[in-house]
Amino acid sequence: MDTGVIAVANQKGGVGKTTIAMNMAAGLIRRGSCIVIDSDPQGSATLWTELSGDPSRFPVDVVLAENKLDKQVAQLQRKFDYIIIDSPPEIKSGSIMSVMSIAQILLVPLLPSPMDLWSSTRIEELIKRAKKKNPKILAFILLNQIEPRSAMSRGMDEALQEIDIPVLRNRLGRRASYRTSALEGCSVYDLGYRGRVASEEIDGIIDEVLGL
Ligand SMILES: Nc1ncnc2c1ncn2[C@@H]1O[C@H](COP(=O)(O)OP(=O)(O)OP(=O)(O)O)[C@@H](O)[C@H]1O
Ligand SMILES: [Mg+2]
Repeated sequence: MDTGVIAVANQKGGVGKTTIAMNMAAGLIRRGSCIVIDSDPQGSATLWTELSGDPSRFPVDVVLAENKLDKQVAQLQRKFDYIIIDSPPEIKSGSIMSVMSIAQILLVPLLPSPMDLWSSTRIEELIKRAKKKNPKILAFILLNQIEPRSAMSRGMDEALQEIDIPVLRNRLGRRASYRTSALEGCSVYDLGYRGRVASEEIDGIIDEVLGL
């Protein structure tokens, strides 16, 4: 299965799209060549690499999405094994749709909160629409900020059965190291022992996605 073009999208804001895109890119570049396309006008992925004051600290280059995203991706695919696309938190710009039309894998981060679960019916509709243009796309929910001791996190599995999108077996916990990676403009792999558990989680997601 072709799994090289991985988009992270959800029209809901603040669910961890950029955090996941950047940390997955840092994990993927340990396995092959990788580039990030920033399709969010907020430019968070681009800013991330500038935060450390030393853009070379972040191991993966970030480029802005061009108007013709399909052409851009086709060109980059000749040079890179993996392309990660970070997306904006809104549908109206149409950019989520163009991202979905080009991605081979779509990861939809979801937080364990009732509001986020309710909003997931909208992403379900978007995926259905995207599948008409891009029937081969494989879409998965990626549970983020899970807290093992919280009742909501525990109740999540049951609630997810209502949603018609498969869920990745691997999930990400709520950990300070993910926030630190953004603050320091690096990845969880660069945080030594502070980032050990998080980098194992990201490796787990990558293994699962590449094994699809
Ligand atoms: N697993 C996690 N554990 C702890 N904090 C997290 C985790 N994932 C994301 N965060 C934090 O949650 C906040 C939102 O994350 P992020 O900016 O990646 O979301 P986003 O979906 O890209 O947001 P936007 O919709 O604005 O683009 C950030 O402060 C980030 O550091
Ligand atoms: Mg973002």
